[in-house]
Amino acid sequence: MIRTMSRINRRGFIKNSALALGAVAVSGCSGENEMMLYNEAAEKTRAVIDKNADLRDMVRYATLAANGHNTQPWKFRINKSTATILPDFSRKTPIVDPDDHHLFASLGCASENFAFTAEARGRPAEIIFNTQDHGEILIDLGNGKTNESEFFKAIPYRQCTRSEYDGKKVSVSDLKLLEKTAQVKGISLVLITEKEPMEKVLDYVIAANSSQIDDPAFVKELKEWIRFNPSQALETRDGLFSGCSGKPTMPTWVGNLIFRFVFTKDSSNDGYAKQIRSSAGIAVFVSDKNDKEHWVNAGRSYQRFALQATALGMRHSFINQPVEVAEIRPDFTKWLGAGDKRVDLVARFGYAPALPMSLRRPVEDVLV
Ligand SMILES: Cc1cc2nc3c(=O)[nH]c(=O)nc-3n(C[C@H](O)[C@H](O)[C@H](O)COP(=O)(O)O)c2cc1C
Repeated sequence: MIRTMSRINRRGFIKNSALALGAVAVSGCSGENEMMLYNEAAEKTRAVIDKNADLRDMVRYATLAANGHNTQPWKFRINKSTATILPDFSRKTPIVDPDDHHLFASLGCASENFAFTAEARGRPAEIIFNTQDHGEILIDLGNGKTNESEFFKAIPYRQCTRSEYDGKKVSVSDLKLLEKTAQVKGISLVLITEKEPMEKVLDYVIAANSSQIDDPAFVKELKEWIRFNPSQALETRDGLFSGCSGKPTMPTWVGNLIFRFVFTKDSSNDGYAKQIRSSAGIAVFVSDKNDKEHWVNAGRSYQRFALQATALGMRHSFINQPVEVAEIRPDFTKWLGAGDKRVDLVARFGYAPALPMSLRRPVEDVLV
């Protein structure tokens, strides 16, 4: 079920046909050579999948999905007719995600990428959540015609773009398309495009972001996943590379030393205000029930939304703070009118140039 809080606006954008990979050089202390190596690795990670791709290569495309803090909290087991996506709890982020909600949503994101990729290579897929043990996702692969959907084609170009957008509105028809594509069982999508409710969401983001920055455990956990320069990002091939957020790069020891002083409430909240006010709208994903299967489905719904947005030349980025802070989530849920449902994910969307793409670990590292 999709509920819309938007006054849907006139078509007003030109589809971004280029969808450039976003291999943008980042200035700062790190040398150009380092950034060149980074860009090469990012391009290789996101190389268009071969026509005769095997399941291993499909795993690579699955891992290009969004995932909390780029922890890549997944393992894949493949055989001829199935793939299983398993949670990797060694990569959990217990402070920002104490109930593993984001972890399971991340698995849902990967499952959608897997299914679109398999379909494109003649293996139409069904996604089944298996509740046994900790919960895992079975991708049941059939045989059929190849179908290279626009979602499949968008996989290597989707990114979370944490920059200011250009303020342009999204057309009525594209908003409707986003709503339609995001439909997944048990998940509702609320689209907010009016100024007043967007400002209210900003208030919640600022309150929750301030509370997170006040929490030393949150800041410590976040810092552990920040990669301050291309070399550090290349070493781990996970985490949040500062260049991907349009931030300056610096030696790791400098980053570790100054992070607490640079990452302040005022600068961070100012940034969110500019980012939200320059966006065309906000998408909120809500589950009927608060359990792992629904969290997975919320991730699937987001990933479908994100691939559709990418195919339309749009950008998006998460602003999940109001659902991450336990003291603020109930009030946010009430304001949204979501009753006893679980508000899962919050993302802004609009138009902007691409930023550098994030990396992923090699396929061998995620196969079991
Ligand atoms: C469940 C989930 C929660 C996320 N939460 C946030 C968030 O609160 N803030 C943010 O900037 N990005 C968030 N992200 C985005 C990830 O950081 C991003 O997907 C990851 O760094 C990989 O980058 P990419 O999506 O550009 O490939 C989240 C992603 C997922 C799937």
